[in-house]
Amino acid sequence: MKTLFKTWAASLLAMGVATSALAQSTPVKGAGNVTNTKVNGQQINITTQNAFAEVAVYSPSVIRVRMDKQPLAADFSFAVITKPGSAKANISQDDNQVTISTDSLRTVINKKPFAVTFYTTDGQIINQDEKGLGTSWVNESVTVYKHMQDGEHFVGLGEKTGNLDRKGSGYTNWNSDTFGYRTDQDPIYSTIPFYIGVHHNLNYGIFFDNTYQSDFNFGASNNRFSSFGARGGEMNYYFIYHKNVADIITSYTALTGRMKMPPLWSLGYQQNRYSYYPETEVFRIAQTLREKKIPADGITLDIHYMDKYKVFTWDKTRFPDPAKMTAKLKDMGLKLTLIVDPGVKAEKGYPVYESGLKSDIFIKYPDSTNYTGEVWPGWCHFPDFTAAAGRNWWQTEIKKYADVGVSGIWNDMNEISTWGQKMPDNVIFDYEGKKASHMQAHNVYGLEMARASFEGYRSALGNKRPFILTRSGYSGLQRYTAIWTGDNRAEDDHMLLGVRLLSSLGLSGVPFTGMDIGGFTGNPTVGLYTRWMQIGAFSPYFRNHTGVNTKSAEPWAFGEEALEITRNYINLRYRLLPFLYSSFYEATQNGKPIVRSMAINYTHDPEVYNAKFQNQYEFGNGFLIAPFISTDTYGTVYLPEGNWYNLYSDEMMAGRQQKIMPVSVQKLPVFVKESSIIPMQSLIQSTAEKPTDTLTVHIYKGNRNNTFVYYEDDGESYNYETGSFYKRTITYNAAKKQIVFAKAEGSQSSKFKHITLQMHGFANGTKLSMDGKAANVKTQFVSFLTPVSSFDPQGTTNSAEGHDVKTMTINNNSNTFTLSY
Ligand code: NOJ
Repeated sequence: MKTLFKTWAASLLAMGVATSALAQSTPVKGAGNVTNTKVNGQQINITTQNAFAEVAVYSPSVIRVRMDKQPLAADFSFAVITKPGSAKANISQDDNQVTISTDSLRTVINKKPFAVTFYTTDGQIINQDEKGLGTSWVNESVTVYKHMQDGEHFVGLGEKTGNLDRKGSGYTNWNSDTFGYRTDQDPIYSTIPFYIGVHHNLNYGIFFDNTYQSDFNFGASNNRFSSFGARGGEMNYYFIYHKNVADIITSYTALTGRMKMPPLWSLGYQQNRYSYYPETEVFRIAQTLREKKIPADGITLDIHYMDKYKVFTWDKTRFPDPAKMTAKLKDMGLKLTLIVDPGVKAEKGYPVYESGLKSDIFIKYPDSTNYTGEVWPGWCHFPDFTAAAGRNWWQTEIKKYADVGVSGIWNDMNEISTWGQKMPDNVIFDYEGKKASHMQAHNVYGLEMARASFEGYRSALGNKRPFILTRSGYSGLQRYTAIWTGDNRAEDDHMLLGVRLLSSLGLSGVPFTGMDIGGFTGNPTVGLYTRWMQIGAFSPYFRNHTGVNTKSAEPWAFGEEALEITRNYINLRYRLLPFLYSSFYEATQNGKPIVRSMAINYTHDPEVYNAKFQNQYEFGNGFLIAPFISTDTYGTVYLPEGNWYNLYSDEMMAGRQQKIMPVSVQKLPVFVKESSIIPMQSLIQSTAEKPTDTLTVHIYKGNRNNTFVYYEDDGESYNYETGSFYKRTITYNAAKKQIVFAKAEGSQSSKFKHITLQMHGFANGTKLSMDGKAANVKTQFVSFLTPVSSFDPQGTTNSAEGHDVKTMTINNNSNTFTLSY
């Protein structure tokens, strides 16, 4: 008897929690065995003892798995904008398993019990459900457990604190207002349930599209599995397999969308604090930027511009004539961005409130009364952005800002943040007609607010591109908005964490990102501020912001030396705009971020995950940034594979090695990868100003093949979508020793009449020819920074450090040309 029992128990254990018998006696319910299957084109519908599943082929590299305890509901997502494509897929099955084969991977669904394994076409396991655990439910919570592969690393998951490698950590997605958050605090403001797993020279992505509170475990308190799950809704994930991480990001952004070209001005420097007021103070800041020759494109107003913090109003004493103010700023080459909060003060007679009531667009309790929560203006109602009616109402209101010449909309407090930070579960959202509780809708509120602002402002501005910024969001936010990382602290660790947050957001499909440069809470030291501004110059959204009770944090507030250093890097940023704008274009095409974690291009190099080097990142296709803290006098850089040039000295160093180097606050360590193609322009004070008619293209000699797509358009309209742009592909062919500028594409001509080629690393005596004829080459001194006159702590460094390069200038006639060496 005893033995019989043992055998029965052992066989149950072998099946894990998956048998219905065990399921009845356990609080954990597994999917159970497959009882029925139905192939339907590129998808298979499966019934198991305890669940209903659907596995569908979206593309040869993207497989979607859905599962629920009840028959699957009609498909709906705020994040995913694509349907399955018509990929060739072969679905076959026998008693034990279903096999789905595409050109890129093989998905095997085990039938007893239901469990999924993804293989490469040559049979290597990429990812598999953990035997005995698989997918299971505890009450309404659903989780899938994946076998932790030997040496597996995990990156991504959006705006998550902690290390680049998420191994050993667990995370929760529940958008939260986290003023002055810790560097390991979780969750913070936004939710992107997408991560990338790396092991055995393989890499894959998983996007878990579930808007309930979700939890990810990458081996926290366990040595067996990685898992993801949510407190409600379906198990619903997309498995993405490609040979390289960049393609995984491309597939993920094919699912969730890509950004559109940003307005060019939004890539310039933005000056901000909580808050600039009254209007005279705004002009003082604007005037000082210009007088001190600090290039800038934007000024941002925080909540004090409003009448008692009431959204869509102006404090008329502080800002008597907003239209006149924006016009005057425009004359100074500056655009205005305004903060908006979702809370609408519940105050009789306040037109915005009255109109919201009339249009009946606020989120509600089940008894149909409007939910009331307290935030800056007092007790508020909140528009339901998950409904078209709510978004349309917002659009009418937001138009008021376009009418007075405001160019950018900064969406804040949209987690939703309310004092107490405990919005009740029973608040009801429309959720595109499907009606959802706060538990299901919470994590998409910020995304849908940003969408309402984007769609509303786009329509208000006509054909002009709006700039939209958000604090909260969900997967897909990149379609509408840039994001910044909220209320960080003026501390070294926060500067470095900020870099990792941008890296992680980039890995998770969001290219347009920024952090409060200088820190939001507290006051940075001179050194920290200076270093942070240098890093800011190499970040996508470059905005200096600080809290309400802090000291002044404009570039001139830290003394002459800091001003000179800061100006140097803002200048460099402006000269790099052709490179940066082209990098944004790349993001619109394939989702590749601007801030690139080294995990993108050097995925299988273990040093990438070494905590010592996890803050290093590539900026576009060309630069490697090593953000040491300001008090470091020596630092160790890890140069990954390839050869690297020191930006300032042109010294070339071999990669795959650590380099100890002296560091000074004057210079951010920046390296340029061999074979890079870096287009630059002359210095301007704002993007409203035209650069000279010469585009300088820096070419770094090297052994790798490289392609850079140079891109221009008018910088402000959507005409590029119908062909109004100028673009040319520049290819570095190392084997042929050639750099080829392809014929220009697009209906626009370039704003640059001449191209100056500046060639780095080409030894004296190198014979250069242009289209087969000996080239007319000169030697020129190149320096990326101007000398800092008054600050030289070690008495040795000179930031004017530069070097000679070979130079030639040609007419930019848009035809193809080839430089050979
Ligand atoms: C919170 C935001 O994170 C911060 O940037 C802003 O300054 C304050 N709200 C005030 O609006």
